[in-house]
Amino acid sequence: CGIVAYVGYREACPLIIKGLKRLEYRGYDSAGIALMAADGLTVYKKKGKVADLEATLEADTLSSHIGIGHTRWATHGEPNDRNAHPHYSHSRQLAIIHNGIIENYGAIKQNLQQKGYVFHSDTDSEVLVNFIEDIRKETFCSVEEAVRLAMQEVVGAYAIVVMSQDEPGTLVAARKGSPLVIGVGEKEHFFASDATPIIEYTNEVIYLDDYQIAVVRDGDLIVKNIENVEQSPYIQHVELELEAIEKGGFEHFMLKEIFEQPRSVKDCFRGRVNADEGHLVLGGLREYLDDIAKSERIVIVACGTSWHAGLVAEYIFEELARIPVEVEYASEFRYRNPIIKEGDVVLAISQSGETMDTLAAIELAKSRGAIILGICNVVGSSIPRITHAGAYTHAGPEIGVASTKAFTAQVSVLTLMAIAVARKKGNLHEDTFRRFLFELERIPDKIEKVLKNADKVKEISELFKDARNFIYLGRGLNFPVALEGALKLKEISYIHAEGYPAAEMKHGPIALIDEDMPVVFIATRDQSYEKVVSNIQEVKARKGKVIAVVTEGDKLIPTMADHVVEIPVTHEVLMPLLSVIPLQLLSYYIAVMRGCNVDQPRNLAKSVTVE
Ligand code: G6P
Repeated sequence: CGIVAYVGYREACPLIIKGLKRLEYRGYDSAGIALMAADGLTVYKKKGKVADLEATLEADTLSSHIGIGHTRWATHGEPNDRNAHPHYSHSRQLAIIHNGIIENYGAIKQNLQQKGYVFHSDTDSEVLVNFIEDIRKETFCSVEEAVRLAMQEVVGAYAIVVMSQDEPGTLVAARKGSPLVIGVGEKEHFFASDATPIIEYTNEVIYLDDYQIAVVRDGDLIVKNIENVEQSPYIQHVELELEAIEKGGFEHFMLKEIFEQPRSVKDCFRGRVNADEGHLVLGGLREYLDDIAKSERIVIVACGTSWHAGLVAEYIFEELARIPVEVEYASEFRYRNPIIKEGDVVLAISQSGETMDTLAAIELAKSRGAIILGICNVVGSSIPRITHAGAYTHAGPEIGVASTKAFTAQVSVLTLMAIAVARKKGNLHEDTFRRFLFELERIPDKIEKVLKNADKVKEISELFKDARNFIYLGRGLNFPVALEGALKLKEISYIHAEGYPAAEMKHGPIALIDEDMPVVFIATRDQSYEKVVSNIQEVKARKGKVIAVVTEGDKLIPTMADHVVEIPVTHEVLMPLLSVIPLQLLSYYIAVMRGCNVDQPRNLAKSVTVE
């Protein structure tokens, strides 16, 4: 979910609506806003997109200089008007917006029901606002104090902002586990799930820590901890440019982000790779390079696309650094008593830096004495703040829900890491090392070249847009790329797709192949090329339709495949950075042709801050 709140001298309603639109990537099944209108604290909410909410508001009658807004990704209760946020308390004196999950809401709800509280939604958030109201009633305290006392009782994760009818200039916010950023302007304050709704107005932000409460009262901000001790928050200057979070002439954020990859990969290498001088530096990891080189194994934890980047890294680390790597779904790792001992290296990969399962996996590994490293995109997010060290991917804000440029940036950083560790271990001769650096520097231009084939991919998309299933096959480093290609298609076009190691096809998926089945092969020139060629023949023998991503100049596969897309030659280890691009484009064009909402696919959210 995404939350935005404002108190200051501007009109709150349009500002909050605009902010919610920027946060829609976090969830978009319903939206709402609470304002201090002429007749007091009023909540407006609606199932659907922020634009649907906006359409129902008569902005001119809603003048207010304080307000809270929310865009939801349903956890408790189906998406409908009732379950949308903000939620009133029983007396309608308070309204809350909440991102996260209150785990012990059942017990609290029962207790409140016995006291006569009536609930109008199925959400844990409505329970929380009534709990706060009840504490106020019982102790005659301020909203701030009631929030603080409630925090001592509730179990779970939250970022909340509360406003109150009887404290009309006050906003009270609190955080545990879910992100919350405060924008500090001249005589105005902003709260939001990330900095994007804020940067238009101010670059000065505070990232609230867990168990902190922030109160804006009469224009002044106070931050306290749960023990009521005032804290002096660290005000950071964020460098986000407005154009980085706008579409810049592209039809969708996803397309813009796909086309940004030459630049985002270059940004990721900037200051880190220099082939002429033969240097490779990852500043944030420098102090830990020795530990990594000495470690007996590396465990990677991640979810979704980031998990696929982890699988690519497994191949590269094992190949170059000769360190065993395990890649775990963060959600599985955290719940199965994993074997982690002191000194093990645990590497967390996350675009948002906020994924709840990944955060929890880190906490667990940390408690067992592991060295925790993070590869994240969002600067200042939660994961980089709890890891021992790490490297940012510097891909810039990724708004499209389907991850594209963040994936290539993750793979880029992980490749640099593997090369640096291999070098540290003495596994790479100067020549090979230099050749890697040289090839790395050429990757952005080669991505540019792949993007020149976009029209070809578009033509292929036209032919397969009505398919009901897809299979993606690859071997070695191209196997995780196959998984990622299949995930992209599922996410945004709702076509069922499966990724498999090409050789595994004969153990099951081959049964699915007939003349209606498109099979995407990632069949670049590498050590398993001949084997993949045989797999293509196996598919053709069963009349499957083959779309192959091949290395430039390949003469053989075009004679067998129905369609081919060429990508430039590069070092085998760097191939995923190129081979994934046609697959991103394929899913994009197919989704657009099917009339799907590419940037905000149904049921998904970009940042999953619930477990
Ligand atoms: C969600 C997103 C995916 C993303 C995954 C992990 O499911 O829809 O695109 O890969 O979360 O997110 P993270 O921010 O940790 O990389």
